[in-house]
Amino acid sequence: MHACCAISIDMRNSTYPPHFAEKYFNIPYVILDIPKIVPDDHFSEVWKEKNVPIVRTKPDTRYPYSPEEAEEIYQTTGKTNEYTMPNWNGIVALRGNGADDRWTESVIDGPAVLPKLFQQLNDLLPIQRLTYVIFWSNQRPIGIHRDLHEQYSLPTSLRVVIEDNNPKPTFFLEPVPPDLDANFHSKGKPDDWSKCKFVDVSQTESNTFLYNNKQWAHGAQKIENHSKILCSISCQFDWVKYERLIDQSIAKYGNNLP
Ligand SMILES: [Fe+2]
Repeated sequence: MHACCAISIDMRNSTYPPHFAEKYFNIPYVILDIPKIVPDDHFSEVWKEKNVPIVRTKPDTRYPYSPEEAEEIYQTTGKTNEYTMPNWNGIVALRGNGADDRWTESVIDGPAVLPKLFQQLNDLLPIQRLTYVIFWSNQRPIGIHRDLHEQYSLPTSLRVVIEDNNPKPTFFLEPVPPDLDANFHSKGKPDDWSKCKFVDVSQTESNTFLYNNKQWAHGAQKIENHSKILCSISCQFDWVKYERLIDQSIAKYGNNLP
């Protein structure tokens, strides 16, 4: 990948209208006021057939180790070797140019294999186009982190809860203190669970939410014998549609501010 492509991944949605920074300041997440997004009837078969353990295929700025170094670190500190110890199982359903390429890929042609689902994504989300769509199911507790790309101080990271049989919500956000902001990378557990926000869509008519990947960090619990599949979406937003839908969604489901 050329350096220019790496920049385009990070900067894709950076041109949001400037007044958003104040209007949506520090909002951890917003449940979108759209109908439930329902996968095609044969989604479970596709999932069973195609999902694979997700492991790292290359280093990045936050995990700069070679496979050999990662194994040595695991042996000496117990820190997960991301090349050999999958945190997730998953499928890639749409991969645009410049999409994340750090992970194992079992690729399907999402729009062809899951047309009903993709029709809803294109019709209901406030976007110009989809650029990367994956289904991931966490197999372990996921430590607190911010996703590497697209860190903005407003809710722009899209997730759809495709399946979830957990008895309670497991995806949570914890505020990143401003003084730590630039230096925050990741940690195993929150310092203060009482400051965490669990995203609960179970009492709503929606299964889609946007979270803030800059002022908040996120993680996931793993409850034994239960699982969930989240659809993670990268896209190019349509900021006019975005503002309209976010405002409507906040009016209905709240802004979840502390
Ligand atoms: Fe993440």
